[in-house]
Parts: sequence; structure tokens; C-alpha cells
Amino acid sequence: MDMDTTSTRAHDDIRTAPRALATEAVHAGRDDLARQGLHAPPIDLSTTYPSYDSRGEAARIDAFATTGAEPDGPPVYGRLGNPTVARFETALARLEGTETAVAFASGMAALSAVLLVRGSMGLRHVVAVRPLYGCSDHLLTAGLLGSEVTWTDPAGVADALRPDTGLVLVESPANPTLAEVDLRAVAHACGSVPLLVDNTFATPVLQRPAEHGARLVLHSATKYLGGHGDVLAGVVACDEEFAGRLRQVRFATGGVLHPLAGYLLLRGLSTLPVRVRAASATAAELARRLAADPRIARVHYPRIGGAMVAFEVHCDPHEVIAAVRLITPAVSLGSVDTLLQHPASISHRIVNADDRRGAGVSDRLLRMSVGLEDVDDLWSDLDAALGQRPERGAGNCANHHSAPALAN
Ligand SMILES: Cc1ncc(COP(=O)(O)O)c(C=O)c1O
Repeated sequence: MDMDTTSTRAHDDIRTAPRALATEAVHAGRDDLARQGLHAPPIDLSTTYPSYDSRGEAARIDAFATTGAEPDGPPVYGRLGNPTVARFETALARLEGTETAVAFASGMAALSAVLLVRGSMGLRHVVAVRPLYGCSDHLLTAGLLGSEVTWTDPAGVADALRPDTGLVLVESPANPTLAEVDLRAVAHACGSVPLLVDNTFATPVLQRPAEHGARLVLHSATKYLGGHGDVLAGVVACDEEFAGRLRQVRFATGGVLHPLAGYLLLRGLSTLPVRVRAASATAAELARRLAADPRIARVHYPRIGGAMVAFEVHCDPHEVIAAVRLITPAVSLGSVDTLLQHPASISHRIVNADDRRGAGVSDRLLRMSVGLEDVDDLWSDLDAALGQRPERGAGNCANHHSAPALAN
């Protein structure tokens, strides 16, 4: 056996053996690098791929039009695929435990592609559970892509299905209330209709929806997967058959991810388990302190944990947003620094107020994405922003007397 064969075998063995999530996070999508004499993944910025064999290119385009499978050999054109982005897709699929994944320019582009795939098959009815991220709710409610939505609770999914239902959509934990859905039970209720779980808040570190029966796992990769607040991206982890249709829609509609974003996302994945676990420990402690605080009416923190905390204040939530100094008052989530926002004003503003409140998004709810700062520094900032405690007189959040409760 020559050296080359030996090293190829060894490489394949490592790639196919089961590996823990922490190992996949730093190795998946990079298994070929050492054999190429590389350590950091290359960034391929090509928009086109030269070839003197246009018959071969025609065959590759025909194959793509038929199955949506990634072309064998160079991608022909940047809208069909990109090697750097493909590394991120491979890595995310390994983390989510799916056959493959398809990346998009944003989370909304990813959801749009799923709706277009199903709509183009004549399956334009969607069953969805509130709350969802405000723009996802809006996309469905407004029917911008020709879909029609039935809103229900998890127990009502089976009854809401119709012959033309193409998709069931849930978020768990949900944005912004952190309400959790029993994924296995909903997957069962879906029967043969694909269940899409938006796993943005949990990440594969805390929950792998495909293991519970979800056919599609969506991320706003803008959040924890990128992890540093500097990449807009989306991704759908799924089986190869659905991925082919998603790639065809991505090719035809153009919502591709830039290769630099693909590189940053792959880099982000390598620290995902460490970031999520560290931020989750801090978030759990902050949730505990908030739940014991008389200025807080209610704390929402999921059973599965995570780095998101939501809480309802007795006082004017706008005053709290205006008063934070270390914490950044901004929408979005999943970065290394802590962000605080008022969903009724920003992330869920676009949802009709009655629908928003009906989904449990109170006007006094604040949503906090906990980062990697020291827990006591974060608590000092929150404590000051919440104002004086009631027993010490009037302050931002002083005018109340009821005891707080830890929800979820
Ligand atoms: C749960 C969830 N899904 C989807 C999206 C949309 O993602 P993007 O902003 O990357 O388009 C967001 C954005 O906040 C989100 O929070």
C-alpha cells in the first residue's frame, strides 16, 4: 500500500467515525485541509469557473436542473455553489445530524426558499405556531410569497392540516417568549407534512430537532452560528432531496451567501459549543436573580437552558432600554456581547398588536441575549437600569408590589 492510499484511508476513517459535537465543531467541513497542506480553510471568491469543456458544463447544468445536486467539479457559476460556503454547509449538517444543509444570504432568505419550494409544488398552505420571530410571522400573515397560514397551538397542529398543507413551522424556544414546543409530539402530528423547526435560539449544542422528527432545521446564522454580530446569513439543514430543491430555488432567486460570510460562519462554528455553554451559564444565573427581584413581574427561561432570557418589568420598559450602559440596547442576538431589546417596539413591531399580545408578547416584555461578559458586571448594569427597589422609594421600576415568577 503506498503512502497516498494509506493517508486517504486514514482521512476517510476519521471523517466517517462518530464524533462528539465539540469535535465536529472544529473539524467538520475541514477534513481535507491537512492533506492539502492547509490549516485555515481557503476563501474562494470566484464568481465564475473557467472551463474549456462546454459540453461538460452543459451536462453539469442539466444534472443540476434535474436534481439540484451540487455539480461534480467546479460550480460553473457562483450562484450554483461555492466551495467555501459548502464547507460551512457540511459542518452545520454534521452538527445538526442531517444529510446536508443549504446556506442563504439571511435567515429570511432561507425561510423564503422553503416556502417557494413548497408553493411551487402546489402546497401553499402553512400551519404555524405563534410566537415566531416577527418577520417570519409577517411573511406568513401577509402571504407575501403566496402562502396561506393557519395559526394554531401545538395541540391543534393535526386538526389544522389540509390536503394542500406543505409545511408546519415552529420555533422552540420561540422568539421572544422562549416558549418551548414538544418537538417529537408535533413531528408526530405532522404525519407526512414536513416539520420545519427554527433552531436559532437553541443551536445544535442544546437541541437537534432532526433527532425529534423535524425534516427541516432552519437557522438565522446571523445569530449564534456566526456568533460575533458581523455576518448576516441563514441556513436550512435537511435531507439531500429537499436540499436539491432549495439549491434550485437559491440559484433561480439569487439569495446566495457570500464566500467571506461562509468563511466567518465556519470559523464561528468552531467556538459554538464553548460560547453557547458559557453564555447559557451566565443567562441561567441572571434569570435566577431576576426571578428573585421585586422589580420584575415575570421571567421567561427555557427548560433546555440557553443564552436568552426574557422578562417582564413592572415599570416602563423603554426606561430600562435607555438606562443600560454595559449592555448594548440593540435588536438581534447570539453575539459575544449582551444585547437588550423591547420586542413590542422592534423585533415584533411588524406583527399586529392583538396577535402579538395573543401570542404572549406583553408590552412590558424585554428580551436579553446574554453574551460572554462577567455575570456580576452584567447584573450591576441591569440592577442600575431597573432603578431603585420599591422599598427604597420610587425608581424606574419601583411602582409595584407583586412577586415575580419564573415561567417556562
Ligand atoms: C428565530 C429567528 N428566525 C429567523 C430570523 C431571521 O433571520 P435573519 O435576520 O438572518 O434574516 C430571526 C432574526 O432575528 C430570528 O430571530
